[in-house]
Amino acid sequence: MVENRPMLEKVVTDVYAALCPRTMVVADLGCSSGPNALHFVSDVIRVTGDCCRRSCRDPPELQFFLNDMPGNDFNSLFQSFARRNKMAMAVARNHGGGTAGSRPPHYVVGLPGSFYTRLFPGRTVHFFHSSYSLMWLSQLPTELQSNSKIHLNEGNIYITTTTPPSVVRMYQEQFQKDFLLFLKLRSRELVSGGQMLLTFLGRKNYSVFHGDLNHVYGLLGQAVQSLVVEGMVEKERLDSFNLPIYGPSIAEVTAVVKQSKLYDINHIQLFESNWDPYDDSEGDFVGDTVQSGINVAKCLRAVMEPLFARHFGEYILDELFERYALNVAKHLEREKTKYSVIVVSLRSKRWSVDQLRT
Ligand SMILES: C[S@@+](CC[C@H](N)C(=O)[O-])C[C@H]1O[C@@H](n2cnc3c(N)ncnc32)[C@H](O)[C@@H]1O
Repeated sequence: MVENRPMLEKVVTDVYAALCPRTMVVADLGCSSGPNALHFVSDVIRVTGDCCRRSCRDPPELQFFLNDMPGNDFNSLFQSFARRNKMAMAVARNHGGGTAGSRPPHYVVGLPGSFYTRLFPGRTVHFFHSSYSLMWLSQLPTELQSNSKIHLNEGNIYITTTTPPSVVRMYQEQFQKDFLLFLKLRSRELVSGGQMLLTFLGRKNYSVFHGDLNHVYGLLGQAVQSLVVEGMVEKERLDSFNLPIYGPSIAEVTAVVKQSKLYDINHIQLFESNWDPYDDSEGDFVGDTVQSGINVAKCLRAVMEPLFARHFGEYILDELFERYALNVAKHLEREKTKYSVIVVSLRSKRWSVDQLRT
């Protein structure tokens, strides 16, 4: 991701300079199977190599762990990784040398499991990275799960202006519980002085009813509602479905970090990013709203498809995401709303002698 690259470079440089490990252990949490995990690995290798050249030190060995849920397509991730390595070697050969000496030696392994559980032995990781994953909750609050008898968020799939405040509180409490658990788990796994760089969808607006994710998922909820009206989906199916996602504000994130007492916040910021990942224009105008609608629908379908297929059935997917693309196009004609993305860099507090004994 382009926007957090300078921060990634800074954190990797800081971690290496401060800890000088012979083997630097780095983990990407929620890596998925797309190209971003590969970009991340390449960036860390490049930045570490640059640090070593500048300081005339021998490079450390880099051990990467790419983590995601067990259902993630690790095969395709590692196949892309092998192709990319082959290409890098070929380029190096064409330029008259191998990669040895110019790039730190590195090893990459997959790590299936939820990041809401322990993933590593104590004090073994120097740097955790996670991008676009931590807005996923560990689970829906119990009262909002599909088997619950009463449907508290009727007609919606996420928080909208008609969501009862009690439901909003449940989402908020689940986020606080999950994020605190995540911070505690990682703090046991980080070496003293290790760091984390976390990037996830959030909201800039103080009001949780008008957060940036409300629009994007609200339009998807409207697409489901239209299928209910036409009898393609039972109303009960819609009423019993909620997304296990929450977009926090910077204040909410900061409050949980402070509550944990485990980290110093090096830096926290919010930036905006266009809904359409192929639209890199900066203004408030969308050139081709129809194409942008299709692009946004494709991206969201890639992420949400398993969830929707499981609850509503595969048969609705094509129709649902076509309607969603139209809803997005119409919305973008009126207003170019954007995602709010929070990037936070955290340094684990140095362990006291007493803590190190436990
Ligand atoms: C939108 S993708 C982000 C992929 C990639 N990091 C990127 O920046 O493009 C979110 C990923 O987080 C993963 N994820 C969600 N909850 C998780 C959890 N509890 N543990 C591990 N991975 C999780 C999902 O499976 C998905 O692959």
